[in-house]
Amino acid sequence: MNRIAVITSGGDAPGMNAAIRGVVRAAIGRGATCVGYVHGYEGIIHNEAMELPSSAVGGIITHGGTMLRTARSKEFMTPEGREAAMTTLRNGGVEGLVVIGGDGSLAGALKLWEEYEFPVMGVPGSIDNDIAGSDYSIGFDTAVNTAIGAIDRVRDTAYSHERVFVIEVMGRRNGFIALEAGLSGGAEAILIPEVPYSLLEVCDDLRSSAHKGKRSSIIVVAEGAARAADIKEFIQRNTGFEARYLVLGHMQRGGSPTAFDRVLALRLGALAANRLISGYKGEMVGVDGTKLVSHPLSYVLSMERTVDPEKLLLAGVMAQ
Ligand code: F6P
Repeated sequence: MNRIAVITSGGDAPGMNAAIRGVVRAAIGRGATCVGYVHGYEGIIHNEAMELPSSAVGGIITHGGTMLRTARSKEFMTPEGREAAMTTLRNGGVEGLVVIGGDGSLAGALKLWEEYEFPVMGVPGSIDNDIAGSDYSIGFDTAVNTAIGAIDRVRDTAYSHERVFVIEVMGRRNGFIALEAGLSGGAEAILIPEVPYSLLEVCDDLRSSAHKGKRSSIIVVAEGAARAADIKEFIQRNTGFEARYLVLGHMQRGGSPTAFDRVLALRLGALAANRLISGYKGEMVGVDGTKLVSHPLSYVLSMERTVDPEKLLLAGVMAQ
């Protein structure tokens, strides 16, 4: 394989630039050339090509976001859109494609593989960390550290004013960020979409904590579990405690990636390029602990990644 392409797609994640660098420099190291398409699948369809020599990826490892920009392409969801994308790839002499993104983006890569047998390699890039086949996806560690930074600051003011604070973190379908940030931020309650909870019980816990002398509390909620504003209202109404809320939102997706995310992204990007050039296809690279692995995309996308029940139990014990 002499020429490969790379895109970033879906929600951006800190570390995507490092992954692009990993892909490009590994490909060049193998004697191949690399082209990027701006705006993900949309950019392939409309041939927004950008040649990526080694110099193009210099100095990007420290930057959040993605130099290739990103998008969620509606056109690519249609057979006509995918046909147009294939035309661009063929005309551009591209022999393989690395897709860096979350589950929707990886599903797009699987379509190209299944419908056209086009060699694709997925790289898990999403702050949500909800992609099966890899213990970590690029951006999760940075997002969690950003959330902890915010929780630590809010705790200071919550303590001083003796208030309950409800902090909403990202995670539409899962609570990976909420659980990790809640545990490491010492939250009194962590609410996630995967596990049923009772707000009346949360109120009881707050009352019993207050009875024991605790005058401020932090509740971390994943956006998919409930809205922080509603929980704050409920708590205030039911307990009479003064409460405030904060939605962290997209700030969790920005910022310079942590060392963990940079190294993870470089390793996964380089592995993806190397495997593609060596003739492997239709896979997603990942990590199992610290070990690099690669699984069929079809397998990865048929599996559900679930939060660690041991961590949930621990969060409950620590909140007592
Ligand atoms: O999948 C990543 C993610 O950041 C989710 O955590 C969040 O729910 C969603 O993207 C937000 O998407 P958008 O950028 O389209 O608002």
